[in-house]
Amino acid sequence: MRIIQSILASKWTKVVVFPLCLVPLGILVWRGLHNDLTLDPVNFVEHTTGDWVLRFLVMTLAITPLRKILRLPQLIRYRRMLGLYAFFYVCLHFTAWLWLDRYFAWGQILEDISKRPYITVGFTGFVLLIPLAITSTAGWIRRLGGKRWQLLHRLVYVSAVLGVVHYYWLVKSDVRKPLEYAFLVGALLLFRIGSWIIGRRRAAAATKTSPKAGVSAETI
Ligand code: HEM
Repeated sequence: MRIIQSILASKWTKVVVFPLCLVPLGILVWRGLHNDLTLDPVNFVEHTTGDWVLRFLVMTLAITPLRKILRLPQLIRYRRMLGLYAFFYVCLHFTAWLWLDRYFAWGQILEDISKRPYITVGFTGFVLLIPLAITSTAGWIRRLGGKRWQLLHRLVYVSAVLGVVHYYWLVKSDVRKPLEYAFLVGALLLFRIGSWIIGRRRAAAATKTSPKAGVSAETI
C-alpha cells in the first residue's frame, strides 16, 4: 500500500497520466489520417468521443469513493485533471456534431437542440459542465468558498445522469452499454448519498453528546 501511495503522490505519475488521457484522441487522429474511421466516419467520431466523455465522467466521480474505500487520499490529485478531460472530450464531441454532422447549419442545430430529446438532454449535460470547468481552479474555490464550490460541483452528477439518458435514448436496439453506464453512475450517486447521510448522523450524534462539537466532517 505504501508503494501505491507514493506512486500516486509523485509528480511524475501526473506527468504520465496527463498524456495518457490524450491517447483516445491520438488513436482517432491516427485512424483518420489512415482512412480507417469505418464506413461512417462521422458516426464513428461522435461515438468514440461520446464514449470517452462518459468514461472520464465516471472516473472523475469514482475518485472520492475509491479514495475513501481504499484509504488513498492521494487519489484526489487526479480528480480535477479527469474532470477537465471529460470537458475536453465533450467539447470535441459537440464540435464533431456541429461541424461534421450539421455543417454549422445553425437553424437546423437550434431545431435539433430544442426538438430532439436526446440532443436536448446531451446539450444540457454539456452546458452544465461549462461552469464546472471554469471554476475548477484554486482561485475559484477561494472566491466561491468551499461550501458553495462543493454545491456547484455536484452538478457533475446531474451532467453524468443526463449523459446516460442521452446515450440510452440515442441507441436504437441494444441498450446494454447505456445500462452499464447507468449502473455505474447510479452506484456512485448512491455512495455519495450514503456517505452524506452517515456524515449528518455522526454530526447529529456528536452535537448530542457534546453540543460544541457537531459540524459535519463530510467533504466531497
Ligand atoms: C455530458 C454530455 C454528453 C455525453 C456524456 C455524451 C455521450 C455520448 C455517448 C456515450 C454517445 C454514444 C457512444 C457510443 O455509441 O458508443 C453519444 C453519441 C452522440 N452524441 Fe453525445 N454526449 C454528450 C453531449 C452531446 C451533445 C452536446 C451533442 C450535440 C448537441 C451530442 C450528440 C451526439 C450524437 C449526434 C451522437 C451519435 C448519435 C447517433 O447517431 O447514433 N452529445 N454521446
